[in-house]
Amino acid sequence: MENVVVGPIDLAVQVDEALAVQAVAFGLGPEEVAIRRQIVLRHLALPGARALGAHSRATGRLVGFVYGLPNDRAHWWSSVVQPYLRREGNDHWLDDSFVITELHVLPAFQGQGVGRRLITGITDTATEPRSILSAIDGDSPARHLYRHLGYRDLARPVHFPSATRPYAVMGAPLPLLRRGERAPEAG
Ligand SMILES: CC(C)(COP(=O)(O)OP(=O)(O)OC[C@H]1O[C@@H](n2cnc3c(N)ncnc32)[C@H](O)[C@@H]1OP(=O)(O)O)[C@@H](O)C(=O)NCCC(=O)NCCS
Repeated sequence: MENVVVGPIDLAVQVDEALAVQAVAFGLGPEEVAIRRQIVLRHLALPGARALGAHSRATGRLVGFVYGLPNDRAHWWSSVVQPYLRREGNDHWLDDSFVITELHVLPAFQGQGVGRRLITGITDTATEPRSILSAIDGDSPARHLYRHLGYRDLARPVHFPSATRPYAVMGAPLPLLRRGERAPEAG
């Protein structure tokens, strides 16, 4: 039996638990957590925003979460990435697209398929034909995971105001690839 249960959560209720997971997984200090808290709660009020959580069967504790929402070109994230995507001829990815806003798994639970279950689970509920996200540019477990799921680079490097490191914007057709599946050749 799997030691982690994945299912929908009310992220507004579990926001502090989720940010505690993110703080450890992604490395956030208390000030960044306070800022993220406001941003998450604002996102959750937007149409179609939803979240999945991963709970340890042994302790009941939240060990991972994902949340996202349908893209809206008026949203801050979309307006920042739009010029970069336009430059690469990928501007259309901002329409009819489900955005993955955050995905984090506690280190002790990484490498066991939890991240894959979370992001596949949430995008399987999307009615949009594609998904987009941003990840810190470079080689990382997140970038590996996203590539395995069919995400490809749409623009990089992308600079967010106040972020010290450059990001890559990635996009994938939905449904995401299952383990062992390969993306069809881009044509
Ligand atoms: C990114 C993250 C959520 C992945 O979660 P995870 O539960 O460890 O991922 P999974 O075990 O589901 O792995 C899924 C796939 O990614 C690949 N992957 C995961 N970690 C990897 C690593 N360190 N190196 C190479 N590939 C890796 C796995 O091979 C797996 O591929 P497969 O399913 O096709 O075999 C997790 O590493 C994390 O929380 N990182 C810190 C926070 C972060 O960077 N979040 C993303 C912000 S954009």
